[in-house]
Formats: sequence, C-alpha cells, structure tokens
Amino acid sequence: MVSALRGVDIDVRRGELLMIVGPSGCGKTTLISIIAAILDQDAGRCEVVGRDLQRMDPRERAHFRGSSIGFVFQVFNLLPALTAIENVAVPLLIKGVSWKQAESRAREVLQLVGLGHRLGALPAQLSGGQQQRVAIARALVHDPKLIVCDEPTSSLDHETGHAMMSVIRDVAKSPGRAVIVVTHDSRIFEFADRIARMDDGKIVELMGSERREHVQ
Ligand SMILES: Nc1ncnc2c1ncn2[C@@H]1O[C@H](COP(=O)(O)OP(=O)(O)OP(=O)(O)O)[C@@H](O)[C@H]1O
Ligand SMILES: [Mg+2]
Repeated sequence: MVSALRGVDIDVRRGELLMIVGPSGCGKTTLISIIAAILDQDAGRCEVVGRDLQRMDPRERAHFRGSSIGFVFQVFNLLPALTAIENVAVPLLIKGVSWKQAESRAREVLQLVGLGHRLGALPAQLSGGQQQRVAIARALVHDPKLIVCDEPTSSLDHETGHAMMSVIRDVAKSPGRAVIVVTHDSRIFEFADRIARMDDGKIVELMGSERREHVQ
C-alpha cells in the first residue's frame, strides 16, 4: 500500500482561497480528492461544510458531492460526446434541474469564463485551455459551497489564467463559500489568502498572505 498522506491537519475557512503547492507526487491530488469526497481515506477525520465524510454512506456522499462540491480535475474529465454547454449542464441535470433551466445557467457560466461563443463545440474541437475553462464552468454551475481545483491554470496563458483566477476568487468571496486550488503556477500565488506547502504527504508549511512572497 502506498501511504500518500501522513499527518495532514488543515482547515479551510469560509470566504478563503487556500492554495496547496508542492512537488509532483507529494499527495496534493490525493488530499483534495478526500476533501471532495471522491476518495475514501483509510484513517483520520475529514469534515467538510460541517459534515463528517466518514459518517456518510455512499448515497449520502454522492448527494453531498453533487450539491456541495465543485471539482476541477487535473485531467479535465469532460464527456467527449457532449458539447461544452451540455458538459457544463451535467451537474444540474443530475440534481434534477430541467434542461431549459440547466442550459440557461450553463450558458451564463460559460459566458463568465469567456466561452459564450463555443457553446456547441465538442471537447475535441476546443483547445486545451478552452477545455480547461469548460471544466471550471462545470465546477461552478451548481453554485457549490466548496470549489476544489487541481491545477486550474495549467493549460492557460498568463492573461487567461489571471482571468480564470479572478472568477474563482470571486466565488471564494461570495457568502458561505471557500476555494482550494492546487497549483505549481507561481503566477497565480497572488490570488491566495493562504498557501499550504506539502511535501511527502504532509503539510510542511502554512503561509498567510503577508508571507506569501517566501514561496515564490
Ligand atoms: N490510485 C493510486 N494507487 C496507488 N498509488 C497512488 C494512486 N494515486 C496516487 N498514488 C501515489 O500517491 C502519491 C501522491 O499522488 P498524488 O496524485 O496525490 O500527487 P500530486 O501531488 O497530485 O502530484 P502531481 O503534482 O504530479 O499531480 C504518489 O506517490 C502517487 O504515486
Ligand atoms: Mg496531482
């Protein structure tokens, strides 16, 4: 068994954008997958938006993920047979929202990420950066309480990366929300309220915004 995490103790506050940085393989994706109730931890306790994940049965977890969590995957995980707008509408359709309402909201969020002109494109017809923006729109569409983003700017140029982080930060600042961003991209550190540095499955340093320059 690979022990990907050992002794992680961290809290994410309401209204906060927390960044997690660290070398490849140190456990960043594993950590945020547990927080997002995608992965089950073997030990320890994880409470998210006031709910203890260990105490939920699989149905509750699925419902919790669908209603409270928005996840931007490191690999975008778009459904290849669906258009951009359909991909973004999926979390709403799963919740039972009508297609008409889901489409209208998906259009709004795609416009927010600058893709209002590519609503009908399939993922394969979009650039890597455009696909990444569809993935960001999909994570925001159902207005989740916690948004977890794994390298959300990895395929974006400087300007688009900044624009996307502004959108994501605005979400973090709206009432009752929080955002966790895993990143290697030092160009976006300025958006963080706090930065947690991970190494070998542990949080080795936690920096507030006033000391942010130390990790750059
Ligand atoms: N499904 C799995 N089965 C076994 N080991 C895994 C699995 N997924 C990840 N690991 C291991 O767990 C450790 C942490 O992986 P993780 O994907 O969390 O790293 P990461 O910090 O996100 O890296 P990167 O920056 O490359 O995305 C690594 O040693 C990895 O090889
Ligand atoms: Mg990763």
